[in-house]
Amino acid sequence: MSKSPNSLRIVSIIGTGAYLPENTVTNRDLEKIVDTSDEWIYSRTGMRERRIARDDQATSDLAAEAAQVALADAGIGSEEIDLLIVATLSPDMFFPSTACFVQEKIGAKNACCYDLGAACSGSLYALETAKNQIACGSVNTALVIGAEKMSTFIDWKDRNTCVLFGDGAGAMVLRATGAERGVMNGVFGSDGSLARLLWTPGGGSRNPMTHDMLDRNEQYLKMEGRDVYKHAVTQMTQSVRDALAANHLSADDIKCFIPHQANARIVNAIGSRLHVEDRMFLNVEKYANTSAAALPIAIDEAVRSGRIVKGDLMLLVAFGGGFTWGADIVEWTK
Ligand code: COA
Repeated sequence: MSKSPNSLRIVSIIGTGAYLPENTVTNRDLEKIVDTSDEWIYSRTGMRERRIARDDQATSDLAAEAAQVALADAGIGSEEIDLLIVATLSPDMFFPSTACFVQEKIGAKNACCYDLGAACSGSLYALETAKNQIACGSVNTALVIGAEKMSTFIDWKDRNTCVLFGDGAGAMVLRATGAERGVMNGVFGSDGSLARLLWTPGGGSRNPMTHDMLDRNEQYLKMEGRDVYKHAVTQMTQSVRDALAANHLSADDIKCFIPHQANARIVNAIGSRLHVEDRMFLNVEKYANTSAAALPIAIDEAVRSGRIVKGDLMLLVAFGGGFTWGADIVEWTK
């Protein structure tokens, strides 16, 4: 994806929302199902607990809950949305898109709907895509949702991965405004040669859903943790620098850095390299890694807690499977 054009229309986030399932699973709870400990998980990841959705909740249910909160925050009705994007790696099903299910649930009958797949970077990619569609005038009001039911796609017998993820959803409403900056120039990149370091190898056309595949547990997320860690730190740090340069800003101009909540060590390492430790937003202790949902959930929390107020700049940075990465700077205009 190339750098965004300097918008014909300036686009702002006019509302945010989040939904976290009620069921909290602590590290101590995980000690009962895999050979792990609260001490190991917390010291390696900064995670204490995560939310796990009910069996009767699919990703679109989590997404619709977050969407309703964001629409109320924006003060608009669902029929005003003309673009609805869901970023997810845990869709309700292969097709139709999770976005179409959300449309039906929230009554966004005038929206064009599609899913966007960029793993944990998905919400940032969707934000950029929606911004550009609004900026060039093809739509007026967009709803961008990051939603994941990760618990369905992780192997609860694999301690290397099952402790790291949680379920949830976050949403943002975007519209052209009279603001001076809004969602600014983003920088994005991908490296498909590293796909095998973080993926779900089974269930698609490459490795279909057969009994043999299921016996090999290839329907679940697999990860080379150490390699992912190194690439995530390097790439997110560089993305922050590139986004600052693309917008002719310095780190001093940013009120709050909101990174994908992969784990606390990654976030702290980025903060330390950029000398902005005290301005890094971190909530991974409560929710673990909710993949594409993490960024919009964090934005919603940063705004509702008053950490971001009107006129502040926040820098969003993400990294995920693919590999995919990106960063965007947003002036809070509400
Ligand atoms: N509980 C206890 N021990 C565990 C464990 C768990 N939940 N998970 C792994 N271990 C063990 C390993 O089996 C290994 O044991 P061994 O030395 O006997 O083989 C040992 O702990 C060390 O594993 P290692 O992979 O070296 O740990 P680490 O310090 O690299 O931390 C991660 C592991 C996964 C926390 C770390 O690599 C990481 O954060 N990676 C990035 C993950 C991520 O953010 N992915 C999503 C990106 S969007």
